[in-house]
Amino acid sequence: MCGIVGYIGYRDAFPIIIKGLQRLEYRGYDSAGIALFDGKDINLAKTKGKVEDLKNKASEISQKGSLGVGHTRWATHGVPNDVNSHPHYSNSGDLVIIHNGIIENYESIKKELSKRGYIFSSDTDTEVLVNLIEEVKKTEDVMLGKAVQLALNQVVGAYAIAVFDKRKPDEIVVAKLGSPLAIGIGEDEFFIASDASPFIEFTNNAVYLEDEEMAIIRLGKEIKLRKIKDDSVAYPRILELQMNLEEIEKGGYEHFMLKEIYEQPRAIKDTYRGRLHADQGLIRMAGIDQNLEKFTNANRIIIVACGTSWHAGLVAEYIFEDLARISVEVEYASEFRYRNPVITDKDVLIAISQSGETADTLAAIKLAKEKGAFVFGVCNVVGSTIARETDAGAYTHAGPEIGVASTKAFTTQITVLTLIALKLAKAKGVFSETKYHEYLTELETIPAKVERALESNPLIEIIANVYKDSTNCLYLGRGYNFPVALEGALKLKEISYIHAEGYPAAEMKHGPIALIDEHMPVFVIATKKGHYEKVVSNIQEIKSRKGKIIAIVTEGDEQVRDLADHVIEVPETLESLTPLLTTIPLQLLSYHIAVMRDCNVDQPRNLAKSVTVE
Ligand code: F6R
Repeated sequence: MCGIVGYIGYRDAFPIIIKGLQRLEYRGYDSAGIALFDGKDINLAKTKGKVEDLKNKASEISQKGSLGVGHTRWATHGVPNDVNSHPHYSNSGDLVIIHNGIIENYESIKKELSKRGYIFSSDTDTEVLVNLIEEVKKTEDVMLGKAVQLALNQVVGAYAIAVFDKRKPDEIVVAKLGSPLAIGIGEDEFFIASDASPFIEFTNNAVYLEDEEMAIIRLGKEIKLRKIKDDSVAYPRILELQMNLEEIEKGGYEHFMLKEIYEQPRAIKDTYRGRLHADQGLIRMAGIDQNLEKFTNANRIIIVACGTSWHAGLVAEYIFEDLARISVEVEYASEFRYRNPVITDKDVLIAISQSGETADTLAAIKLAKEKGAFVFGVCNVVGSTIARETDAGAYTHAGPEIGVASTKAFTTQITVLTLIALKLAKAKGVFSETKYHEYLTELETIPAKVERALESNPLIEIIANVYKDSTNCLYLGRGYNFPVALEGALKLKEISYIHAEGYPAAEMKHGPIALIDEHMPVFVIATKKGHYEKVVSNIQEIKSRKGKIIAIVTEGDEQVRDLADHVIEVPETLESLTPLLTTIPLQLLSYHIAVMRDCNVDQPRNLAKSVTVE
């Protein structure tokens, strides 16, 4: 986690770094810092708090200079405070570093360096690393790039780092293992960042470092890429970025989360655009077309993911089994990777990740590949590590998701997974032509139906006001909508800090029903298709225990309206597509409750968007 930004060139580095840190704040926001070289000295400001606090703090230092680095932190080693914030100096004061990741063996290195007289002012692993680089540079009498390469061979862990030496201010050295690092290439200037958003208005050309690569970035020269292990030469792959500035700004919405909720009709359409051809009865997906037999001959599909992406995986389990008749297991990546799972070369593993950087999902992919499984990625961030590590994949095309709570990532992941399931159902011949066409045509109507679901926003705001002070909430759903209940509960707890649990509706009587009284709001997904009558019975059970019922129902529903305290309607669709609609009111509810409770919607406490540590 953490966001890093660096600049070397001819412009003022300060505004570029501050703006860049603000764009990367989704990656961590408990402290922030900046170091600028003004031609003579390094000026450093750092503080606990947000980039906005850093801006105030930085008014105390000179903001001059065309070389600088900045950092926004999600603490791993050492509490969030001014001292532990990055950048960190080496003992001589010559080297400055920013770091995203964890150095696991920092304690033993720290002991060794302490014996040699090094003094540490922070509790961080990063301060140890910059001093290790300094020690290597001194004892081996080498240039900064070589010292970084030798030092990194002594560390165990994950990193994206940028280091410079004030005695050689025409150069920044960067390196990557496990955490992302992009280099923006302009004319006579270079940008460094955890993703491309800090430099998108300056250049479209970027190099994404691969794991175990480092780069020596020198003004007036081509960037030099080297392999960290053996210092051999690597060749930069320059990508042309598609992102635009509008996509990463709020566009008139109060929060990114709200903007991203409202973007879903467009995002879903972009996800199936060019793939779904309902008029021709066709789905084209290169990653599947080229590997069709791997899927159709697979013993089973294993889906690995974390958080919201895991919930999309659960929806996919229902879709794949129901439509394509392929057996599916859905695993938390963090459990799967350490469980010594049985995996064979007849298995297909699908990894789902918005960021494409989640450490546990990445580790699960590596494990499955070692055991010979074919690995397919469903990612949003183009060029991300998971997208590169998988054998094949399909992007979700949701556009940048900046609010920490995932919204459009969820619905676009489900869209991609539905397309895959339909393709496999067709290839396996388990679906009639009529049914196949019905699905394709219905999928095309979903963006307009999401628009309609969004029209309930004013009503949802009123309902949010009624329940904003609750301390606990239950979310219930069955079948395809059980994962939506889990996702609804996750959205509420992560942004409003209200305890919430998602359950399969029928499981309620095996325990959670004990919690129900007149103070317990129960959000029930009770759409017409899919176990409707059974969910109605569950609603009766809640009502007879005086629970407050907020039901998500199909347009025109009368039966539940008579039982529930509030109903929110969504348009009718095929059962397997209902999660794309029923999730919308739950996202809006969480959003409004969080705003009413004065919570930081886009940057909830203790969280980060991209979880690059395990
Ligand atoms: C919840 C949320 C997280 C992520 C999880 C996985 O709103 O955003 O639970 O879904 O950290 O992240 P990705 O999809 O980037 O692998």
